Amino acid sequence: MSANSPAAVIVLAAGEGTRMKSPSLPKVLHPMAGRTLVGHAVAAGRELEPEHLVVVVGHMREKVVAHLAEVDPGVRTAVQEEQNGTGHAVRVALESLAADGVAVDGTVVVTTGDAPLLTGETLRALAEEHASRGNGVTVLTAVVPDASGYGRILRDGDGAVSAIVEHKDASEEQLAVSEVNSGVFAFDGKLLVEALGQLRTDNSQGEEYLTDVLGILREAGHRVGAVVAGDFRDILGINDRVQLAEARRILNGRLLERAMRAGVTVVDPASVWMDVSVSFEPDAVVLPNVQLYGETHLGAGSEVGPNCSLTDTVVGAGARVSNATADRAEVGPGASVGPYAYLRPGARLARGAKVGTYVEVKNSSLGEGAKVPHLSYIGDAEIGEGSNIGAASVTVNYDGVNKHRTVVGAHCRTGSDTMFIAPVTVGDGAYTAAGSVITKDVPAGALAVARGQQRNIEGWVERRREGSAAARAAAASRGAGGVASGEVAAAPGADGSVGGA
Ligand code: UD1
Ligand code: CA
Repeated sequence: MSANSPAAVIVLAAGEGTRMKSPSLPKVLHPMAGRTLVGHAVAAGRELEPEHLVVVVGHMREKVVAHLAEVDPGVRTAVQEEQNGTGHAVRVALESLAADGVAVDGTVVVTTGDAPLLTGETLRALAEEHASRGNGVTVLTAVVPDASGYGRILRDGDGAVSAIVEHKDASEEQLAVSEVNSGVFAFDGKLLVEALGQLRTDNSQGEEYLTDVLGILREAGHRVGAVVAGDFRDILGINDRVQLAEARRILNGRLLERAMRAGVTVVDPASVWMDVSVSFEPDAVVLPNVQLYGETHLGAGSEVGPNCSLTDTVVGAGARVSNATADRAEVGPGASVGPYAYLRPGARLARGAKVGTYVEVKNSSLGEGAKVPHLSYIGDAEIGEGSNIGAASVTVNYDGVNKHRTVVGAHCRTGSDTMFIAPVTVGDGAYTAAGSVITKDVPAGALAVARGQQRNIEGWVERRREGSAAARAAAASRGAGGVASGEVAAAPGADGSVGGA
């Protein structure tokens, strides 16, 4: 808390948000760029370091309260049983503080749970202006291209704010005003409490309007101030899903701009989406069609994309991730992932490791320089440094009841289509023959061969598939001196069994 901290920030979030047409989710819990709408409002309010942060809840409040407890356990909630208006909502918040023995003395900042583009910076400018002018109330306004739905700001001949009139209560002349109320205010706490007691409901919606507090304080001779937002988009309120998409696009643009100014190359900003919690280092490159979610981090000089979706994933310096989906994975420095790879929670690739094409990795670590280049599933495994897992290999980790671990040592070469029936351990430097089903531990340096012997039944096709294209090809090959019986040596493991290198 700093010297200028407000006594309280109150976030209004009790309304239903009918226009979202969302039976399962209250409006303020709709997600956008890694937070819910109310999550954005709370985060902006937190930047003011208030003594108390109160969210007024009502519609589907169990869900809202549970969510707030998760994202910001320090938040208090106040229940507004019936949504009788924004003024009533603020009264409910102050009464709940009073019931807990908190008498608000100082500045009270009110914001709404449906304005996710509002920044802490804009809120700070409002609070500072309010305090330095000694105002009774200071309203955040904006000049908007389309004012419909918003309360209009009325100014007198000297340009001082005299009142706010709601769209539904405005005259033709007032509707022409393009400066609108953001719904965000700084109040003198004591004056606010007094004025709320005087609110009436004789308006078109039969509600207690918070906006009427301005007229009341002005009548009583208190200073009413206004701060006009430099960027009108800061105050955009979300009422429906079209506005939600617009706001998401605006916030995403801001996040990408911040990343680019910090040294990240974004080749196609129109197709890249980023959550607020994503971090990065200079010279990271983001190719088209990439989504970066949660606590994802891009290291210096790493390259991600095209077509990647990364959630809570750390990409090390100089690593390369292409056409991949990753969730809670760690890609070490200089490692390479994809194209067409799926890293699931707990996939950890050390420096220079490789997860190649059509490979899925879950809860497994790959040591330095270890490679799983093609068509494989690695789950609950540890692959030692420098080892190469042949194409089309699977750690058979699940017996239908329990999961078991596979441990492959350092510098192993396992053949293509090796099935590791876990729990199983392959010692350092060991090999497996292609097509092996490994059910027993392999000692260090051994070659494990675990597959059926090949048997060739001579002439079978010409006898049993007479007249077929295969039979004709076989006959022609025989005539031309093609492969005949006994020409292929069949020493186990001597036939290039280490595949997929
Ligand atoms: C409100 C303002 C309007 C302003 C606009 C900015 C009033 C009377 N009007 O209008 O001047 O231009 O915001 O977006 O204040 N809420 C409650 N309890 C209630 C009513 C509302 O918690 O009883 C909450 C809503 O959940 C919402 C916020 O207050 O987060 C604003 O309510 P809403 O009904 O959207 O007000 P607007 O008509 O948009
Ligand atoms: Ca609104």
